[in-house]
Amino acid sequence: MTESTHDGPTSVRRWQVPGRVNLVGEHLDYNGGPSLPFAIDRFLTVKARARDDDAVNAWSGGRKASFTTSVAPGDVDGWAAYVAGAVWAFGQAGHRLGGVDLVLEVDPKAGLPEGAGLSSSAALTVGVVSALDDLAGTGLDGTTRAVVAQRAENDFVGAPTGLMDQLAVVHGRAGHAVLTRPLADPPHTEPAPFDPPGAGLSLLVIDTGVDHSHAVHAETGGGYAQRREECGRAAAELGLEHLADAGLDAVLRLQDETLKARLRHVITETARVTAAVRTLRDGDWSQLGTILTASHESLRDDFEVSCAELDVAVEAALEAGALGARMTGGGFGGSAIALAPQPKAAAVRELIEHRYDALGWTPPTTFAVRAADGATRTH
Ligand code: GLA
Repeated sequence: MTESTHDGPTSVRRWQVPGRVNLVGEHLDYNGGPSLPFAIDRFLTVKARARDDDAVNAWSGGRKASFTTSVAPGDVDGWAAYVAGAVWAFGQAGHRLGGVDLVLEVDPKAGLPEGAGLSSSAALTVGVVSALDDLAGTGLDGTTRAVVAQRAENDFVGAPTGLMDQLAVVHGRAGHAVLTRPLADPPHTEPAPFDPPGAGLSLLVIDTGVDHSHAVHAETGGGYAQRREECGRAAAELGLEHLADAGLDAVLRLQDETLKARLRHVITETARVTAAVRTLRDGDWSQLGTILTASHESLRDDFEVSCAELDVAVEAALEAGALGARMTGGGFGGSAIALAPQPKAAAVRELIEHRYDALGWTPPTTFAVRAADGATRTH
């Protein structure tokens, strides 16, 4: 694609779009509860140029996909379904849509890895929606772009995700986490200071390399869709619209042991988010660490979305001196996080690698992240 510096109709717009890590508040977004994610300094880039026909071409890592602006669910699959879904959802929202050439790029060393549970799919859909909005001059606000991007994933790709990831990708702010309540009306987002490096700490991401994507897709009957269904059933039995509205006594009112356990997670995790926000305001990092680890235990034992690779990473991180560690995201693979004093970060990484090695597992990829700005037009 030829770049142009003038702002004519054929000029190239470039968007830098981060992934996200969820600090705490897991599996709450679709239950009406709060989450505390942050956008990370691992990005993908979306370059976009308007066309004067209705063709949509997308290039990504040597792959190319072509369709038109009339693309509909079922027409496109694989990686390009996220692009096509964003195009479709933008049009469905009633916005003017012309053809577009899109180039999606990820720096192979420091870019946003795909399939690591760091929301590369939300980054992709938010990036394309932002570019379409920009080219059409629609001027949608960030939350509306996030909602359109979620629709792409839910109704085109067939992944029944909540809205947390997209809100974090849009509303991220350097040095801050984003307290989100996606099911508030309108969806609520609020920055909360979060700067571990400023306090001599590292927030490490441990990418287990275990593919979690099948768990999210409805048609595979994956664990994510199953958890959503269980939470919906528990809420219906309690006569609640959202499970996060349940009081403590609600656990006693459910008969089914599995639903009780799911509810226990939702209630305790909601309390952990409130407590975590307080630790950020007070700079109480050690207490934040305790909360992160408690969240992992709840996801492992009550919500049952962890896996051996995540548990081993968390246990080794704690043993090597992390203040806290947990799985992040939907679970069933993907990444764990560890909050560690900077001088201990190397020991954390080494002990996790050692444990994986002893178990005959492929070593995970560990790297530090910072809280970064959300999707930004850079050109
Ligand atoms: C995935 C989904 C989110 C959220 C998390 C669990 O990342 O995309 O909407 O439900 O799982 O907190």
